[in-house]
Amino acid sequence: MIQIAPSMLSADFLNLGRDVEMVNEHADLFHLDVMDGVFVPNISYGFPVVEAIASAARKPMDVHLMIVHPEKYVERFARLGVHMLSFHLNATDKPAQTLLAIREAGMKAGLVINPDIPVESLYPYLHLCDYIILMSVYAGFGGQRFIEDTYERIRTLKAEIKKNNLDVKIEVDGGVSPANSRMLIDAGAEILVAGSAVFKADNPSEIISAMRG
Ligand code: DX5
Ligand code: ZN
Repeated sequence: MIQIAPSMLSADFLNLGRDVEMVNEHADLFHLDVMDGVFVPNISYGFPVVEAIASAARKPMDVHLMIVHPEKYVERFARLGVHMLSFHLNATDKPAQTLLAIREAGMKAGLVINPDIPVESLYPYLHLCDYIILMSVYAGFGGQRFIEDTYERIRTLKAEIKKNNLDVKIEVDGGVSPANSRMLIDAGAEILVAGSAVFKADNPSEIISAMRG
């Protein structure tokens, strides 16, 4: 089953309750982008906003950390009721320990890579992951253009997951819309993140159902 995860970075923060309700009704996950201005140039939002969304969310929260030292914050996100926690492979020198800590804290563990990092660099960690996020834009900002190489990267990673008989989902993040969702699903993606395509639309729920394929 394909899951659609609207990225709340593109939500209307003056009407956040309304946008949270839209996700509750029409989507599958809340994708929450936490940026620190160090690992990526941009700063998004942190604990108070995640906590506010948590208080109204009836769908699981998928937190995508774009911060250095993600290992420091595992417990804190677990306490907020986060269901899926991911971090970038090159954001820590302890990826394996961090993945284990996320699972021990009761969450699904995810690793993320930018488009310029070979998918093969994930292979030593796949058995510790519940999902992988392949970035289809460079992490840091919403509203960027989808990078076409992504389809091939999904196929390569999917083949490796299958070969090793692992249960690891592939999530794709960046520039996803109804224009590319079918091809992403066909390549092997199971979770689609979409920010601007959903929240800048006149009818977000229509876009969500169009992306289900
Ligand atoms: C980018 C974030 C994405 C972003 C997606 O760093 O990880 O989740 O919000 O937004 P769109 O769909 O607009 O590319
Ligand atoms: Zn993201």
